[in-house]
Amino acid sequence: MPVPVRKAIFPVGGLGTRFLPATKSMPKEMLPVVDKPLIQYAVEEAREAGVEELIFVTGRGKSAIEDHFDHAFELQAMLRERGKDDALKLVVDTIPEPGQVAYTRQQEPLGLGHAVWCARHFVNSEPVAVLLADDLILGPTGCLKQMVDAYAKVGGNMVAIMEVAPEATSSYGVITPGEKTDRLVEVKGLVEKPAPEDAPSNLAVVGRYILQPNVFTDLGRFERGAGGEIQLTDALARQLDQAPFHGHLFEGKRFDCGSRSGFLEANIAYALARDDMNGAVAEILKSYSSR
Ligand code: UTP
Repeated sequence: MPVPVRKAIFPVGGLGTRFLPATKSMPKEMLPVVDKPLIQYAVEEAREAGVEELIFVTGRGKSAIEDHFDHAFELQAMLRERGKDDALKLVVDTIPEPGQVAYTRQQEPLGLGHAVWCARHFVNSEPVAVLLADDLILGPTGCLKQMVDAYAKVGGNMVAIMEVAPEATSSYGVITPGEKTDRLVEVKGLVEKPAPEDAPSNLAVVGRYILQPNVFTDLGRFERGAGGEIQLTDALARQLDQAPFHGHLFEGKRFDCGSRSGFLEANIAYALARDDMNGAVAEILKSYSSR
């Protein structure tokens, strides 16, 4: 029986340059989809999967994330005084239990692999999940919960995967697939951002991972990959002969909220999925499509 996943890393140290000027003084992960910041969706997904300890790898200018997951005493007092109980509940429900959340800083954004490595002392010798808040996944069950359920049967390293257009492989980590059982695909190889003509498949990695702790030793060698960055997928590829490695074809739709059009689409999809907004948003969309 594999060791359960109790901890999750949220790398939020990136610069978010594609969202400038919005991200000049605000972290990208605090951008709201409808009315909830991206990072809160990721935290809720981790909790749904049974994660008990949340580890944020932050950077300069990211303190709004820490404030978001803390008490806002003045606001809470005012909402209580004015009898705004529903709003108060929304504010209070974001706060994790004391000691459940830890923050460390990635002093320089040297890549996702480096950000994950910065969390090593909080993880020690346990498996850990990694969630990238800018990959937002709308589905019947949280993507990480789906992965944790599959992981309980096979253990090892696991990545969330989805099919992408063949010409899009150069934006993703791409796997060499082996045997497929239901939604689990054996990973035989993994390459970061291959050109379409070099891609081993069109099965791309999206921002959900379950990692065995051995990967930290590899990340600590600081080997640079695509774009001169320390890539998590490269370190994982070097673990292929160490532990079982699977891709999980998750159920749901993924939105690339690191890109402007993906972020806009996520806002539309999440609004349409809400009973309190569906009608009004559908009307707005109709009025634009008939122009
Ligand atoms: P991105 O590749 O989207 O980079 O990172 P970015 O800097 O956030 O955004 P752009 O490309 O400049 O617009 C994917 C995820 O990895 C984290 C980011 O915070 C994001 O959640 N990341 C990336 C780090 O934590 N540290 C890094 O050095 C790089």
